[in-house]
Amino acid sequence: MYIEKLKLTNFRNYESLDVSFSSTLNIIYGSNGSGKSNVIEAIYLLALTKSFRTGSDINLIKKGASLAEIKGEIISNEKTRYQIDLSEEGKKVYINSDKVGKISDYVSNINIVLFNPLDTKIINDSPSFRRKLINIDISQGNKEYLLLLNSYEKVLRNRNAYLKQLYLNGNASKDYLDVLTSKLVSIGKKINECRKTYIDKINENIAKIYENIFEYGNLQVIYHSSFNDKTEKELFESYQKRYYKEREMGKTLSGIHHDDIEFILDGNPIRDYGSVGQQKNAIISFKLAELIIIKELKDEYPILILDDLFSELDNAKINNIIKMLNKEVQTFITSTDIDNIDKSLLENSSIYLVKDDKVERVNNNE
Ligand SMILES: Nc1ncnc2c1ncn2[C@@H]1O[C@H](COP(=O)(O)OP(=O)(O)OP(=O)(O)O)[C@@H](O)[C@H]1O
Ligand SMILES: [Mg+2]
Repeated sequence: MYIEKLKLTNFRNYESLDVSFSSTLNIIYGSNGSGKSNVIEAIYLLALTKSFRTGSDINLIKKGASLAEIKGEIISNEKTRYQIDLSEEGKKVYINSDKVGKISDYVSNINIVLFNPLDTKIINDSPSFRRKLINIDISQGNKEYLLLLNSYEKVLRNRNAYLKQLYLNGNASKDYLDVLTSKLVSIGKKINECRKTYIDKINENIAKIYENIFEYGNLQVIYHSSFNDKTEKELFESYQKRYYKEREMGKTLSGIHHDDIEFILDGNPIRDYGSVGQQKNAIISFKLAELIIIKELKDEYPILILDDLFSELDNAKINNIIKMLNKEVQTFITSTDIDNIDKSLLENSSIYLVKDDKVERVNNNE
C-alpha cells in the first residue's frame, strides 16, 4: 500500500499543497520548523483521522482559515481517494467522494506505522502509554478489538460505581456485582488473548530486527497481565477473594486495565539498564516488527513513516534499517539535512525540499 498523491488546503502552514510521492523511499528535508512533520502528520491523519501530536483538531487548521482539507490517493489493490475536512464544527470523512458517517468505518483502511522521537519516551512513561501503543497497533489489524476495549471500559466504570454503592450501603445486593465481574472477566480474557498473540508475534521478529540494526544484543518484549495463564473461573474466584478490599477502595483493583509490556535487552529491563540509544532502537525495532505483522494480516505492507530518525540514530544504523526494508514498503524519512546521508541511499530515494511553505521534488529518481 502506498500514498501516490497528497493535497492539502489550509492544513497547518500549507495554504495549498499538491505533491506526488514515490512508492518506495521518500526523503523530506528542510530546516527546523519548515513544515516537514506537518506533511507526514497529514498522511497519518488521513489514515487514522487523528494526529500523532497532542492538541485539538483546531490546531491543524491554518491560522486565519476556517476549513482544512486533506486529500490523498492511496494505491492498494486499486486506487482509492480519501478525504478529511476539518472545521470548527468538527470532522467529515470521505472515501471516493462519498461521505462516511461513522469514523470507525473510515479508519483501518489505510495502514500506517509511524516512528517519531517522542515514542522513545514510551519505555519510561507510565504503563497507560504502553497500553495505548499496543491498543493502536492491535486495532489496525483487528476491528473487533476496539469494540472489546470499549465494552471493557463500560463494564469497568459500572463495576467501580457499584463497588462504591456497596461501600455506602451495606444492604445492597452483591449479585449485581457478580454479574459485572463475570462480564469483566470474559471480555478481559478476550483482550488478554489478543494482546498475548500480538506480543508473541512481535517476539517472533523483534530480536532479529534489533540485531540487524544494532549488530548485537538480544531484545524481547514481555507481556505482564494479571489475566495471563488463568481460566475465567480462576479469575472470577480471585475477584471474590478481593471483594472486601475492592469494596473498601471503591474500585476494581486488578484486570487488563493494569496490563503492561516490558522491554528486555540481554536479560535486563531496558528501562533500568539500557542506554538512551538502546531504548530508541528498541522502540524502532518494535515498530518494524509491527510492519511485518500488518503485512502478514493484510497481505501488504503498511506505509512507514520515520520522523526525525537522523537525530536519533547514526548513519550506519539508518542504513541498516533501510537495507532491511523490503522494496515494497513505502517509506517517509524526514531530516533537517541531507549532506550526511549515505550517497547510495540518496540515489535510490525521491528527495523533497520543504521551504517557504512549499514542498518541492529536487531529484527525479524512481
Ligand atoms: N495551524 C497552523 N497554522 C499555521 N502554521 C502552523 C500551524 N501549526 C503549525 N504551524 C507552523 O508549522 C511549523 C512547524 O512545522 P513542523 O513541525 O512540520 O516543522 P519541522 O520541519 O518538522 O521542524 P523540525 O525539524 O523542528 O521537526 C511552525 O513554523 C509552525 O508555526
Ligand atoms: Mg519535525
